[in-house]
Amino acid sequence: MPKLIVVTREGEEREIEGDVGLSVMEVIRDAGIDELLALCGGCCSCATCHVHVDPAYADRLPAMGEDEDELLAISDDRDETSRLSCQLPFEPALDGIRIRIAAED
Ligand code: FES
Repeated sequence: MPKLIVVTREGEEREIEGDVGLSVMEVIRDAGIDELLALCGGCCSCATCHVHVDPAYADRLPAMGEDEDELLAISDDRDETSRLSCQLPFEPALDGIRIRIAAED
């Protein structure tokens, strides 16, 4: 199973495995990391699944949709590595990716 490294808001790092076919948000949530609230359940309407993605993997991620871009625009913690983790399918190509949970808005 591919792995990802999650960095929590406190800076704690956890390596977790995830099922291909889930979203990155679901992989993090299923590992019991509850600071990623994901309040809308993955339908791209809440932005509480905001993460910062390892730039080395940026070209393996799907392009950002208009809805995702608009939701991220209201976050004070947005930067060029920002994504909504519910919009990122977890795939073998992401094995080893480092994901940092964004600050709470
Ligand atoms: S879980 Fe709500 S936008 Fe991702």
